[in-house]
Amino acid sequence: MTTTSFARNQWYVAAYGSEIGRKLFTRTICGESILFWRTEAGEVTAMADRCVHRRFPLSEKPSRLDGDTVVCGYHGFTYGADGVCVSVPGQKRVPRTARLTSYPVKERDSFVWVWIGDKDKADEALIPRAPWLDSPDYTTVCGMEPLAARYGLLVDNLLDLSHETYLHGGYIGTPEVAETPITTEVDDKAGVVHVSRHMDDAACPPFYAKSTGITGRITRWQDIEYHAPCLYLLHSRIAPVGAPGPDADGGDPDAFHVEVVYAITPETETSTHDFWAVARDFALDDQEVSDFLRENNRTVVLQDVVALNRLEQVIASEPAGTQELSINIDTGGLAARRILQRLVEAGTATPTAAEAAAAVR
Ligand code: FES
Ligand SMILES: [Fe+2]
Repeated sequence: MTTTSFARNQWYVAAYGSEIGRKLFTRTICGESILFWRTEAGEVTAMADRCVHRRFPLSEKPSRLDGDTVVCGYHGFTYGADGVCVSVPGQKRVPRTARLTSYPVKERDSFVWVWIGDKDKADEALIPRAPWLDSPDYTTVCGMEPLAARYGLLVDNLLDLSHETYLHGGYIGTPEVAETPITTEVDDKAGVVHVSRHMDDAACPPFYAKSTGITGRITRWQDIEYHAPCLYLLHSRIAPVGAPGPDADGGDPDAFHVEVVYAITPETETSTHDFWAVARDFALDDQEVSDFLRENNRTVVLQDVVALNRLEQVIASEPAGTQELSINIDTGGLAARRILQRLVEAGTATPTAAEAAAAVR
């Protein structure tokens, strides 16, 4: 059996919906090269990006879309939106096995989610939500940066925000982030890790000072929810020191809220798609604030990318068995690693006899 460090039988973010249209689009997810396109009715399709005939990538010219079919650019095998081959050159009969592996897909919260694993286990109810991203009550800026490092390094990075003080000083980091202890809660069954850090009296970093207009010190809350393996949410609450807290009924008119969303999608064993989005509930129509947050957040993401790419090189060059040392700030990251390990093992486990029999039916 081949071993892999990917959790299979999971939903992953493959793209933003805006990336996929009437052009052939390819992205590798968990080592699988997948072709995406929209039908004439606007539905996203996902199928293997490899012609069954002689392996030509269907995303590559001169392969093309023809209505709701894709025509291979090498010898013309033609496939429907379900991946089934509908015509081959030079003969009427299409071989029964001429079909591309198709993947369950779902567009939700501005993302295109794809299911990697056994199709019959793809339950859309399992997709974690990030409703801010296409809500009219928020304005969102977003992007995706390729990371030349394994996805676990990005999970570690995002679950420990004390690194903001050092790696992102002058952007989002201030001394209080690293100084303030965290609380961690783990829901093993749901595969969710919560890490919270509430700073009562902190310096306002430029990221928030420039976007909110706050000039003094702030109350700064960071509440993380990591839904393993792919979705990371950072609920960020910023208010001037002394402003009232949230109401009992959930309202919070005196604070600024920023929902920072990451989708962490493995590309290969040592590379990752780092999707990031910043949704805010203030200055909704202010283009300058949007431009500032997009540029600033991208800069911050790239600071992480540079550091994590370096870590990947270090891992590749170190002797097997080299140890790390963990402290309190790593509690969330360690919990995430345990959950991911369990998901990897569950996704690659030998099916039970009952499951195997069901699969044949
Ligand atoms: S490789 Fe696609 S038709 Fe031959
Ligand atoms: Fe970071």
